Order: sequence, then structure tokens, then C-alpha cells
Amino acid sequence: MNRLPKTLLLITLLAGLLPAQDLATVLKKGQAVYAATCTGYCHGESGAAGSAPRLSGRGFDQAYITGVVTRGVPGTSMPAFNSGISAADRAAVIAYVASLNGIVSPSLGAAVSSTPATAKLTGEAARGRALFYDATRSFGRCSTCHEVDGVGIPVAAPIAKIPADVSALRALATPNVLNVTVAGESMPALILSRKAQSVVFYDLTVAPPVLRTVAASDIRIGEASPWRHASAIASYKDSELSPILVWFQASRAAKN
Ligand code: HEC
Repeated sequence: MNRLPKTLLLITLLAGLLPAQDLATVLKKGQAVYAATCTGYCHGESGAAGSAPRLSGRGFDQAYITGVVTRGVPGTSMPAFNSGISAADRAAVIAYVASLNGIVSPSLGAAVSSTPATAKLTGEAARGRALFYDATRSFGRCSTCHEVDGVGIPVAAPIAKIPADVSALRALATPNVLNVTVAGESMPALILSRKAQSVVFYDLTVAPPVLRTVAASDIRIGEASPWRHASAIASYKDSELSPILVWFQASRAAKN
């Protein structure tokens, strides 16, 4: 097995996250954190499926893994590992799960082009997939808020209605984004749950959106927000949105 290039890529990737450390040490530490924190009731050993989903070989990218680990998955038993775990342990476990997915940071452009799902894609759909989580756009990329085929962070619900064309995508209405007010400050919010005690929502003021839980008595939920999806996708040209729609169609067709 050709380990060296992957190792070099991971070192480059980790250099930004951690003080200079031997990669093997980081991954070993990540494996130990994984064994202590993620396995047992939830994920299986080495990323195998447990009562929670499989984590290895799924084409997850670094942004996705980081997002899920730090924010959790609302509505599931996957918690947010924000406090209760040191930053170094979190970085190590993210690197370990990344290594189970053959990563290579997307910011290095290597992305997940070798995963089986991609192999079946035609040129146009494969280009759309790459554009969807295009790291050069930072948080302006679609995968900041959407997950399709295991790529991206599921802030928004899975895409149910694929827009017919690029202009329909640009004109997309966002009926579930409401204007909420917390402590006198108003913000666009995608509400996930609304209980007697508390409201859980994504604050779309910033990218990536921030998951917040606010006591029901401290939040006022108003009308439709002036937030526009069009601004979230402003970094994409029409010629780039079109292949993304082709990819949406292709991945849907593959499932049916
Ligand atoms: C900053 C976050 C963000 C980014 C970036 C983003 N979206 Fe969205 N998108 C949303 C939210 C939030 C909704 C849901 C709005 C609602 O339900 O009212 C949505 C809805 C959609 C829908 C409608 C889905 C349906 O079933 O109705 C499509 C299609 C979509 N987005 C495509 C894209 C594409 C393609 C990109 C990249 C070019 C993108 N989005 C980038 C936040 C984002």
C-alpha cells in the first residue's frame, strides 16, 4: 500500500490544527479517544456500524466530520462534542475518522474523488458534486448547509424538491426561515424544534450557521425572514449551479 502521499497530505492538513506532532501519534491518540468516546453503545470499532451509522469509507470530508463532531446531529443521539473533550482530543478524533475515509483534506483539493459513489458519476454530475463542497469557497459552498449522499453538513433538511433549472434555484423561496428575536437581537432562524421549554434553531446570520438552544421564554418567533438563499449561493456562477443540479438528479436516480 502506498502510504506516503496520504501521510504527507494528513501532515499538511494537521499542521493547521495542531502543534507539530508526529502524525502516527495523533492518529493513535485519535483512535484511543474514539475507542473511549464513540464506541460501545454507538459506533463500532474502526468506524464499523454499531447502533449508530458506519463512519469508515463513506466519503466524509473534513468539514463534514468536524461539523458533526462539534455540533452533533439534532434529533439523534449524536451529541455535540464541544465541552467535555479537549480541543486536542477533538482534533485527534476528527483526524482519525478522516483517516478512515481516506482523507486528505478537501482544502487540498484531493476531496473524495475515489469513493465508489463518485466512480459511477458522469463527468457533469461529478463536476457538480465537486462544486457542491468546493473548499475554495470556504463556507460559501453548498455543503456548509446541505448534505447530499453523505457529503456536507445537514443544517437544512434533505433536499426534497430539486429546482427545475438554475433560475428556479436562484429564486428559491425559504418558507422555513423565520425572523426570531433573542435578547433584543433579531436573526434569521431555521427552527428545528419548538417545545414548551426551549426552541432549537440554526442561526443563519453567520456561515456556517450556529446551532442554538434558547429557553422558550427568551425567544420571540416572528414572520418570514428577509434572509435570501440567493445570497448564500452568490459565489456560484450559473455554469456552476447547473452541474450541481445534474448531480442532485443523478444521486436521486441512483437511489430509486
Ligand atoms: C448558508 C446556508 C446555505 C447554503 C450555503 C446553501 N443553502 Fe440551500 N438551503 C438552505 C436552507 C436553510 C434551506 C431551507 C429553507 C427552507 O426550508 O425554508 C435551503 C434549501 C435549499 C433547497 C430547497 C430544498 C427543498 O427540498 O425545498 C435547494 C434545492 C438548495 N437549498 C440548494 C442549494 C445549493 C445547490 C447550494 C449551493 C449552490 C445551497 N443550497 C447552499 C441553506 C443553505
